[in-house]
Amino acid sequence: MAKGIEVAKPTGKLGVLLPGMGAVATTFITGVVAVRRGLGQPIGSLTQMGTIRLGKRTEKRIPKIKEFVELADLNDLVFGGWDIFPEDVYSAALKAGVLKKDLLDQVKDEISQIKPWKAVFNKNYVKKLDGDWVKQATNKYEYAQLLMEDIQNFKEKNKLDRLVMIWCASTEVFLKKHEVHETIESFEKAMKENHPAIAPSMIYAYAAIMSGVPFANGAPNLTVDIPALTELAKEKVVPIAGKDFKTGQTLMKTIIAPGLKARLLGLHGWFSTNILGNRDGEVLDDPESFKTKEESKLGVLDYILQPHVYPELYQGFYHKVRINYYPPRGDNKEGWDNIDIFGWLGYPMQIKIDFLCRDSILAAPIVLDLALFLDLAQRCRMKGIQEWLSFYFKSPMCAPELYPEHDLFIQLMKLKNTLRYIKGEELITHLGLEYYD
Ligand SMILES: NC(=O)c1ccc[n+]([C@@H]2O[C@H](COP(=O)([O-])OP(=O)(O)OC[C@H]3O[C@@H](n4cnc5c(N)ncnc54)[C@H](O)[C@@H]3O)[C@@H](O)[C@H]2O)c1
Repeated sequence: MAKGIEVAKPTGKLGVLLPGMGAVATTFITGVVAVRRGLGQPIGSLTQMGTIRLGKRTEKRIPKIKEFVELADLNDLVFGGWDIFPEDVYSAALKAGVLKKDLLDQVKDEISQIKPWKAVFNKNYVKKLDGDWVKQATNKYEYAQLLMEDIQNFKEKNKLDRLVMIWCASTEVFLKKHEVHETIESFEKAMKENHPAIAPSMIYAYAAIMSGVPFANGAPNLTVDIPALTELAKEKVVPIAGKDFKTGQTLMKTIIAPGLKARLLGLHGWFSTNILGNRDGEVLDDPESFKTKEESKLGVLDYILQPHVYPELYQGFYHKVRINYYPPRGDNKEGWDNIDIFGWLGYPMQIKIDFLCRDSILAAPIVLDLALFLDLAQRCRMKGIQEWLSFYFKSPMCAPELYPEHDLFIQLMKLKNTLRYIKGEELITHLGLEYYD
């Protein structure tokens, strides 16, 4: 057996910092508290319910992931966060309308105690929102210092051993990489000069990394996916991951597209549209925030299907993604996909998907897994981009010379092999010839 990585034990409490305490964050927090009290099951969470095969199939060693690697216990999680509205988690969850009031009431004593701190917010980056629970400072560097004070106070007050930060705030307008994002020096200078290329999410990410706190980005914003911050993360030995939680329609895409490619079925076009009525839907109703989301959603098929490798099957397929804000649906989105495929001798076929999903129900376990795995990564002294967490993202971050891996099954294999590697277990290749010698 290989040696594995030395992993510090998850002793004491783990603080989970959440910029943005809306539908996803409150569903996550309420869910963890409910699970702790035996009121529900952590369905959809790999860290809580997933297993991992070790060694040969004949050995029948299939422990739960949480028994194989040492993860923080749910009872040791403490939640904190920021929002532009001052409502506590109970009130915000009621407003989000994802979980039933009956469940919220059963944990109200605990979740109503969690109140967001004032946010770093600028309406130029989220045009559809306006809130007054916001910090005041003269420049973006000072805003970062204020966030770092919040982090430090939270740590001291709750006697926390470690922290992680998961961005669950609204999608910001589309930003391209700018030269001020190149180095940490140019980034800090731009913060002090209030440069427009520094979005609020970048200020949170900077504050996290400077505080030694791992950071994951659940939205499609550029945020931590810029050289200045990926370098800073390496320098400070802080793991980072992103971007954009892979839930609903894109999750389905990354399940189905690898199957089509595996069977060498061609694709003429893939049209995806959906209706949703939560605040996220309202924010995405602004074309500039939608552009950020669209870029994140469109990349997936090209990377999975590789038209340059399979021109007869995938060259020039038509791909369209629409999001329609439709208030009556709230968080209960409906997503339709029409997929025009072709088979033997070019004969056309169609696949239709109608996915009545619940966005935040799919996202909450991702927040939990990212919190626990990023904490594990930090205890292993893993730093910078954590590509093995691509499984959770629509636009996985990767090294500049690589293309991202989008295939859900390859992503899962990568994640589990990383856990085997950490523990010094043999990696699984699925060759299996030895069973027939
Ligand atoms: N639910 C999903 O399935 C899913 C999937 C992928 C990505 N996401 C992304 O996750 C994020 C959260 O989604 P949601 O459904 O919870 O949205 P939401 O609108 O319910 O919550 C976002 C919260 O962030 C707050 N906010 C905005 N800017 C802020 C700032 N600068 N600082 C602090 N708080 C700020 C808002 O006031 C709001 O309460 C969105 O960016 C969304 O695009 C969600």
